[in-house]
Amino acid sequence: MEFRELVMGRYATKLFDGCKIPEEKVAELLELVRWAPSGLNIQPWKIKIVVHDATKEMLSAATWDEPQIKSCSHLLVFCADTDFDGLRHRLARSMKENGVPEQVWHIVMGIAERMAKMSAAQWLSYAQCQVYLALSYAILAAKELGFDSCPMANFKPDEYSRILRLPENLVPTILCPVGYAADQQHGKWRYPLEEIVVA
Ligand SMILES: Cc1cc2nc3c(=O)[nH]c(=O)nc-3n(C[C@H](O)[C@H](O)[C@H](O)COP(=O)(O)O)c2cc1C
Repeated sequence: MEFRELVMGRYATKLFDGCKIPEEKVAELLELVRWAPSGLNIQPWKIKIVVHDATKEMLSAATWDEPQIKSCSHLLVFCADTDFDGLRHRLARSMKENGVPEQVWHIVMGIAERMAKMSAAQWLSYAQCQVYLALSYAILAAKELGFDSCPMANFKPDEYSRILRLPENLVPTILCPVGYAADQQHGKWRYPLEEIVVA
C-alpha cells in the first residue's frame, strides 16, 4: 500500500469483529515497531501483549469499558521503561556489539551521561514521547499488514500495572488494540495547513 493510502485509510477503530489475527502477522507488526526511532536510539519501550479473554475482561473495566478492549484480537500495551541506568548500560553495550564507531559511541554516551541528571519525572516524560513514536509505527504497520487498530490513552495505568503484574520500572503509556474492524471509518478530518504551519 502506498504511504498516503495507509495514512488516509487508517482510522481509530471503535469496534473489532473478535477474529484472531494470525500470530505470524502480529510478529511482523512487532518486527516493524522494533525499527521505530528513538532519542539516542535508547529504545525505552516494552510491549505487553494481551490475548486472553479473561485478562481483557479485567482490563476493560480499567478502560472505561471501551469496546475495543474485549473485541480486539491482540491488545498491545505500550510501556515506558523508567530504568534509565539499565537502558544506558544496555545502550553502551549494544552500540559496541553493533559496530557503532568509537567517536559516535562517545558522543552518545556523553549525552546519556548528561541525561542521567534528569529527574524521574523528566525521564518518564522523555521515555513516553519515544513510546508514542513506536505506537505510530504500530498503527500504520497494522494497516499495511491488513488489519486495524486504535490508539488509546483513556485508561488507568495503575490498574493495568496491577492486573498485568508489570515490573515496577514499566509504566503503561498507550494502548494499541489490533484486530479486524467491525465498524467503518467516518469522515476523517483535520485542521487545514494554515492552522498548523506557523507563518
Ligand atoms: C494519543 C491518542 C490517544 C487516543 N485515545 C483514545 C481512546 O482512549 N479511545 C478512543 O476511542 N480513541 C482514542 N484515540 C483515537 C482518536 O480519537 C483519533 O485518533 C482521532 O479522533 C482521529 O481520528 P482517526 O485516528 O480515525 O483519524 C486516541 C488517539 C491518540 C493519538
